Amino acid sequence: MATPAFSSDRDRLSSDFWEGRYQADTPPWDLGQPAPPLVRLFTSPGAPAPGKTVVLGSGSGHDAVLLAQQGFDVIGVDFAPSAIAKASRLAATAKVSAQFLQRDIFDLLPEYEQQFDYVVEHTCFCALEPTLRDRYAQLVHQLLKPDGHYIGLFFTHNRPGGPPFGSQPDELRQLFGRHFQILSLEPTADSISDRLGEEHLGRFQKC
Ligand SMILES: C[S@@+](CC[C@H](N)C(=O)[O-])C[C@H]1O[C@@H](n2cnc3c(N)ncnc32)[C@H](O)[C@@H]1O
Repeated sequence: MATPAFSSDRDRLSSDFWEGRYQADTPPWDLGQPAPPLVRLFTSPGAPAPGKTVVLGSGSGHDAVLLAQQGFDVIGVDFAPSAIAKASRLAATAKVSAQFLQRDIFDLLPEYEQQFDYVVEHTCFCALEPTLRDRYAQLVHQLLKPDGHYIGLFFTHNRPGGPPFGSQPDELRQLFGRHFQILSLEPTADSISDRLGEEHLGRFQKC
């Protein structure tokens, strides 16, 4: 994800920007598979129990399909129409019932307030303007049922600019600690090679 050129601030990271990236070619962030740290978590003996789940910025749908395969009732949300189309095809091919909704994640409220046992994300937080981070943390909190869990795989690089906009573990603890109990926030040893040493897997519980 190289830093794009913007014609104006209003264009920054709009659905048109992301849609253009999907239409141009296979987007560089698309692993073509679920993220290995999420596979490890959701297929381990101590995996979270299946529940109603929203995957934010679900892209081509690999992580949402993984969860559906593990018995989760999943809806993936993305505002790029090509991402929704790809993800829907992936779910059909995998013969799982994951649903995909084309919508701006910030427009999920009030319709989906307190609807989910889990909010899951992978490279959605880092795709947003950093000025939206407080609003994002509040969104995640409001989407969750009481005691619901937020599970995020964060891109913790420290290069300037973005997307992907990096974040540091202390910053994540401070931001999400205002709304959640931090169950764990650990570096991952099984990230893909070009993100190794630059990802943290976080598990947070709504409080
Ligand atoms: C870097 S991509 C990651 C996609 C997917 N999670 C993956 O790892 O392949 C970020 C995704 O978030 C979506 N996105 C960014 N901002 C969004 C917003 N405000 N509402 C809905 N989707 C958004 C983009 O369309 C894009 O598909």
